[in-house]
Amino acid sequence: MNELRRTHTCGEISTALVGKTVTLNGWVDSRRDHGGLVFVDLRDRYGITQTVIEEEGPALDVAGSLRSEDVVAVVGTVRERPADMVNADRVTGGIEVVVDRIEVLNRCKVLPFQLDEAEQASDELKLKHRYLHLRTPKMQRNLRLRHVATQAAREHLSGEGFLEVETPLLIRTTPEGARDYVVPSRVHPNMFYALPQSPQLYKQTLMISGVDRYFQLARCMRDEDLRADRQPEHTQIDLEMSFAGEEDVFALVEGMVQNVVARTRGVELEVPFQRLSYDDAMDHFGIDKPDLRFGLELTDVSKLATQGDFGVFKSVVEGGGVVKGVLAPGLATASRKDIGAIEEIAKRYGAKGLAWLKVTDEGITGSFAKFFSDGALESFAEELSARPGDLMLFVADARMAANVALGQVRLEVGRRLGYTDSEELRFAWVHRFPLFEQNDDGSWTAMHHMFTMPDAGALDSMEEDPGKVYATLYDLVCNGVELGSGSVRIHRKDIQERVLRICGIGEEEAESKFGWFLRALEYGAPPHAGIALGLDRFVTILVGGTSIRDVIAFPKTTAATNPLDGAPSTVSANQLEELYLDLVAPPEDEETGD
Ligand code: AMO
Ligand code: AMP
Repeated sequence: MNELRRTHTCGEISTALVGKTVTLNGWVDSRRDHGGLVFVDLRDRYGITQTVIEEEGPALDVAGSLRSEDVVAVVGTVRERPADMVNADRVTGGIEVVVDRIEVLNRCKVLPFQLDEAEQASDELKLKHRYLHLRTPKMQRNLRLRHVATQAAREHLSGEGFLEVETPLLIRTTPEGARDYVVPSRVHPNMFYALPQSPQLYKQTLMISGVDRYFQLARCMRDEDLRADRQPEHTQIDLEMSFAGEEDVFALVEGMVQNVVARTRGVELEVPFQRLSYDDAMDHFGIDKPDLRFGLELTDVSKLATQGDFGVFKSVVEGGGVVKGVLAPGLATASRKDIGAIEEIAKRYGAKGLAWLKVTDEGITGSFAKFFSDGALESFAEELSARPGDLMLFVADARMAANVALGQVRLEVGRRLGYTDSEELRFAWVHRFPLFEQNDDGSWTAMHHMFTMPDAGALDSMEEDPGKVYATLYDLVCNGVELGSGSVRIHRKDIQERVLRICGIGEEEAESKFGWFLRALEYGAPPHAGIALGLDRFVTILVGGTSIRDVIAFPKTTAATNPLDGAPSTVSANQLEELYLDLVAPPEDEETGD
């Protein structure tokens, strides 16, 4: 290899090097054989250089045998390309390397998919041969951008006085919302570690330890249902700060995000970010992670809706519910089938139906127009600022149910109008969430986690109506994605115990689950607050991707498998024996997953 070691990468040779002898190492990106004249494009992480073999001899023989993705070393002389062959888009577009010698360093088998056709290959195949998929320019760019984003975050936090501290991966099982992945202990038979769902209790313990400002690029493992934006393991930019509250976290994160976006997208974000209370987010956008790249806010038309004789609207409003509408600009051209498809989405999110009106040059028509006077129909259009050519969509239901369903209708309208394709980044804080949410059986659980501080005003009477207690809890959202979540934490043991009690966790259970942490709170725990941003989701937005799998080097499928290494797998009888574990076959007709 020594004499064939590269002198340059495949991305840096420009016309400045014309006449020089260079050695390149890389993969055969493509080969064009004109018989006696062969062009080989060599590729590495840095770019592509065109090489040309134009004389009879060993080099031409080797070139004739090359296949895509063979690994080669090339020695040759840099030459200016003829003017009509110049590719102005590449640094290397003005030159080619005339090859004296070419050596195959390693062969590549017949490819399971062509790299430039990776988009069409199945996900399973691409994950199985992840090393090939990662060689594509798109994936290389994603990995590079993730690196830049991570470095920018790290430098920013370090510059703000945050200490990077690692917390353990083998921990005591802690209830945090999702199911734990567990690891059996060999030295303590029948005992288990859990893999952390997040470093939550450890970072709070670091505050009690006087670390003051902590951060970590933390791997978090959660055994939960997977989706495009969820993986069994993900990375968080996790941070915590002492003697700090919501405003401090907001300012810090805004600075960090500004920095990351500037370094990766070259865009200067405006700060402070917009802020919305949870209630406003739900009332105006029907979702707690609103996509603010477009308006189309939900409008309450309950009053107007009872003026006509439409039974659906009347009975819902009389029953204490609301009628809400959203504008679909220019969509009066939608067919019944189109509207039916949107209605299906509303129904999937709980709506009982979707009512609609169209503003046309001839007047206002629609599914319930006959129940209203022309004047009343005009008023609907006025309320929603609808103009000729626009469609209006309505859902009648209890307040939250109407919000949620119409919120999804709003998103669908945004998608249909291409608003969600915009590359703009619209960050916002959603805060003042309820602390607790009620389960179907009437019991309460913490909306975020049990370590969130109740709003000061609610402290005395929390137990009376947990549903009314707000929390100092905040989410960072961007373009309709929940990017991060955090809160001001409970630093007093008495308050922590009360919150646990409301969540149905008695003293004994609390002691067994996190007694160690409750004790730590008794030794001078400072007030503290923090947040964790989902790095994978953040980078996905920055690269304009659709799935976090595109920005994770070795992700898992939605069935939590890795086709590359075949995880998960069985273990040997020996391993089981050492761990004192016995396997029980799952019942045949029962699903083993979620
Ligand atoms: P939370 O559970 O909200 O909070 O997670 C914080 C952020 O991490 C990202 N995220 C995920 N990304 C990919 N795959 C997943 N399965 C996944 N789960 C979460 C999201 C989310 O907003 N300890 C608290 C944070 C805190 O209070 O400081 C926590 O983990 O972007
Ligand atoms: P129905 O009386 O259920 O056949 O509904 C008559 C029309 O009203 C249909 O177009 C439904 O989609 C619509 N609709 C029914 N329930 C609701 C509702 N709760 N909100 C909005 N539209 C509704």
